[in-house]
Amino acid sequence: MQKNVRRFIVFFLTGIALITLLFSSQLIQPAQSQSITTPTATPVASPDYELNAYPAELPPLPYAYNALEEAIDAQTMELHHDRHHASYVDALNEALEQAPDLQNQSVEALLRDLDSVPEDIRTEVQNNGGGHLNHTIFWQIMSPNGGGEPTGEIAQEINETFGGFSEFQEQFNEAGGDRFGSGWVWLVRNQQGQLQITTTPNQDNPIMEGLYPIMGNDVWEHAYYLRYQNSRTDYLSSWWDVVNWDEVNRRAQAS
Ligand SMILES: [Fe+2]
Repeated sequence: MQKNVRRFIVFFLTGIALITLLFSSQLIQPAQSQSITTPTATPVASPDYELNAYPAELPPLPYAYNALEEAIDAQTMELHHDRHHASYVDALNEALEQAPDLQNQSVEALLRDLDSVPEDIRTEVQNNGGGHLNHTIFWQIMSPNGGGEPTGEIAQEINETFGGFSEFQEQFNEAGGDRFGSGWVWLVRNQQGQLQITTTPNQDNPIMEGLYPIMGNDVWEHAYYLRYQNSRTDYLSSWWDVVNWDEVNRRAQAS
C-alpha cells in the first residue's frame, strides 16, 4: 500500500515537472502570450527594433490624423501615411517576392548592404525599403505632445555640438531647405560618435552611409504641399512644434 502511495507521489511530481518544462520551453504557450504576437499588435519603432523586410507591414499611425494639426494638417497626414507610406510597403513586398533568399532580412540589413541585393530589384529595394524605414521613424519622432525645447541628454549634446538649440534648428532648417528636389534632412550620429546634420536624396536613409539616423524630417512636397504650398521653409520652421523629444532621446541613446 505504502509502495503505491510512493509511486503515486513520484508519478505526480514527474508530471508537474514535465508540464513546467513544456511551459518554460514555450512548447505550450498560454493563450495570453499568443495574443501578444498577433499581427494587430502595434509595432513600435524603438531603436533596437529592426523592420521586417518581408512581409513588410504598414505600421499604424501612433495618433489620429489631426493630432499634429499644429504643424501638419489631417489630410496631409492621411494621404502621407495611408497612400505614400503604404505604397512603399506594397512595392517593397512586390520586389522581395522575387527574392526568397532575402525575405528573412530586416529592411535595415538590406539597406546597409545593397550590393547583396540582385541588381534587377536593387533600386526598388533601395527606394521602397528606404521609404518604409524613413516613414516608420518619422511617425514615431513626432507627437501631439511634442515640440518645445529638447529634453534629456540630447539637449546637452545639441548644445555642445551646435552651440545651442536655435543654432541647431537654423542649421537643420537650412540643410533641409537646400536639399534639392525630394529627400530628407537628418540628425545622425557618425562613426566617430559625433552628432551631425546631413541630408539624403529620394528615400535614401543615412544607414546606407554608415550613419545612425536619430531624427529626420521629410522634405518631399507630399509632406507639406497642401498647407504650405511651395514654402518648404515655413514647413521646416513649424515642424519643431511636433518633435517628440522622448523618442529622439531614445534613438540617440541607441545610436
Ligand atoms: Fe514622405
